[in-house]
Amino acid sequence: MEETVEIKEGLQGVYITKSSICKVDGQEGKLYYRGYKIEDLANYSSYEEVCYLLLYGKLPNSKELVDFTEKMKKEREISEKTKDIIRKFSKEAQTLDVLRTAMSSLSADDGKPYSDNESENIEKAIKIIAKTATISAAIGRIKDGKGILEPDNSLNHSANFLYMLTDKKPDKDSEKLMDIMFILHAEHSSNASTFATLVACSTLADIYAGVTAGVAALKGPLHGGADEAAVKMMKEIGSPDNTENYIEEALAGKKKIMGFGHRVYKTYDPRAKILKSYLDKIKGNSGGEINKLIEISLRAEKMMIDKLGKSHGIWPNVDFFSGPLYLHLNIKPELFDTVFASSRTVGWCAHVIEYWRNNKLFRPLEQYEGSVDLVYKNISERS
Ligand SMILES: CC(C)(COP(=O)(O)OP(=O)(O)OC[C@H]1O[C@@H](n2cnc3c(N)ncnc32)[C@H](O)[C@@H]1OP(=O)(O)O)[C@@H](O)C(=O)NCCC(=O)NCCS
Repeated sequence: MEETVEIKEGLQGVYITKSSICKVDGQEGKLYYRGYKIEDLANYSSYEEVCYLLLYGKLPNSKELVDFTEKMKKEREISEKTKDIIRKFSKEAQTLDVLRTAMSSLSADDGKPYSDNESENIEKAIKIIAKTATISAAIGRIKDGKGILEPDNSLNHSANFLYMLTDKKPDKDSEKLMDIMFILHAEHSSNASTFATLVACSTLADIYAGVTAGVAALKGPLHGGADEAAVKMMKEIGSPDNTENYIEEALAGKKKIMGFGHRVYKTYDPRAKILKSYLDKIKGNSGGEINKLIEISLRAEKMMIDKLGKSHGIWPNVDFFSGPLYLHLNIKPELFDTVFASSRTVGWCAHVIEYWRNNKLFRPLEQYEGSVDLVYKNISERS
């Protein structure tokens, strides 16, 4: 007799481990990294400080932050081999595919990719975070038919990323906005890509293999691809006055509106609220096209909240407002998911390091529904 089992589709509601890295309160719309409110980190902190916090579990003092920042700077350069990998992809390649392959190459540059020593793994994490930003900027440059730029170590992580991508040192406002984007995307508990990272590393594969699995899982429009898809939709809407009709028709056709809804948040994603406040700041200061997209996004947000917010728990998530803000920073849609992956490297690494303290191989079960004991016939006897 077939055993009755309860299947939790998409592992919805299943706890996989204990963690002290990140708390997502989906009912109240609150997010904490290591106990600190995301709003405070966005307002007062820096990406480097947040990386330290996530990796070491505490905020750094001044000396610790200076030392950590210096370490990150020293790890920015990427090898000629990694640059060659990026250059060899065709311009048509999707940027996240290039990142996934370049990310794999980082382990080849490390004489000892696997370690069971936590301090050594933190050093590897710093290397991954710093180099992934350089790789992402290089991917953007090559896709645009431009040369790869070397890092500028007079700049912080965010300013240097924008510089390596655009060949222009950003002004203070753009630097702050980029930093906010990195901070808000740095970590989000056991989402699909973090889970993929943990699954890979639960086999005691090295941390580079883990983040490479994370990049692979981030690719789809239900996860890291949602911000690009949201901007695509805003462009399709075309004019602010067309917003309500478009959304009405899409919902009537049972289409999902990208950048809305979340497995955990059943209220406004706090990261989306922070991003919306930045949209309000840049509204009117951006180019005409971006201003139009901002107007469309604000009208779409209002309509979606009226229609599906309170009634269905479908609210804006981090990906809805990210697109116009990335565009404001001269980051093209095809690079959005790659920038997201760069930000998230720290979260992936922090989770691997924590999980390895009490590692258990992931090996779930499935209920078999097929046949058994079929008779194997020679190919000539099969109809
Ligand atoms: C994130 C997401 C995958 C979480 O979904 P989930 O917990 O698996 O829930 P489901 O996809 O099963 O959705 C549940 C219901 O809400 C609806 N829904 C969910 N997100 C929706 C959206 N963005 N627009 C319209 N309807 C949506 C579904 O159609 C479904 O309706 P049904 O019960 O009538 O079939 C989902 O909300 C989504 O696809 N959002 C768009 C992609 C996105 O923005 N991803 C980034 C997340 S940070």
